[in-house]
Amino acid sequence: MLGYTTTIMQDLPSHYDSLEQTLQSAESILEDAIRNAKNLFHTPVISSHSAEGIQTRTVVLRDFIKDSRIIRFHTDLRSPKVAELQANPAATMQGYDPSIKIQLRMLGLAEVHHRDAVTEAAWAETREMSKECYSVADAPGLSIDDPNAFDIDAKNLDLELGYANFCVVLFQFDSLEFLHLKGSGHRRAKHVWLNNDLSSSWLIP
Ligand SMILES: Cc1cc2nc3c(=O)[nH]c(=O)nc-3n(C[C@H](O)[C@H](O)[C@H](O)COP(=O)(O)O)c2cc1C
Repeated sequence: MLGYTTTIMQDLPSHYDSLEQTLQSAESILEDAIRNAKNLFHTPVISSHSAEGIQTRTVVLRDFIKDSRIIRFHTDLRSPKVAELQANPAATMQGYDPSIKIQLRMLGLAEVHHRDAVTEAAWAETREMSKECYSVADAPGLSIDDPNAFDIDAKNLDLELGYANFCVVLFQFDSLEFLHLKGSGHRRAKHVWLNNDLSSSWLIP
């Protein structure tokens, strides 16, 4: 038995009979993941194209706007993912939570925001501890000799200077794949939006 469960587990169907149910569950999971760190979709992975190939990394899901299918996360302007997503906004996001045996896979486009109304609103709601990361002396990913030299001294820090490095990424998906693992029969469904028209179908798991 795993030592954690998502709080929404009891609200999810134990079996999926309809495509609508699969989309509703996916949306409930993503909404719950905004504030529930025990929901493993709170930390999904997002993949982007880089010159070396596909790059994948974990991020914290900060918001999910159901109607527009937008997932928000925060990052550092100087991190490689920003340049990658600006060069090619096509991205995939994925997560799996074993406590509910559900995988979600989303394909879409990522939009990077810096020093605009979107970042201002997000920065205003960012906790001090999270703001500290954006004051690190140089670009995340640079090769260094001594990691101690880049530890953050929170006591002697003007947190607001970090705003210059703060970015918001809005990932809007137009495809969502839902997979529920169950011994009696896995259920896999795909939902695709063309403009705002949704078409849904079952897939062989
Ligand atoms: C649990 C967890 C949460 C993370 N959240 C974020 C995040 O919200 N934003 C971010 O830029 N990096 C986050 N990271 C670090 C990234 O996974 C990654 O290592 C870093 O951003 C560098 O990515 P890049 O070189 O592809 O730009 C997180 C890592 C972990 C393990």
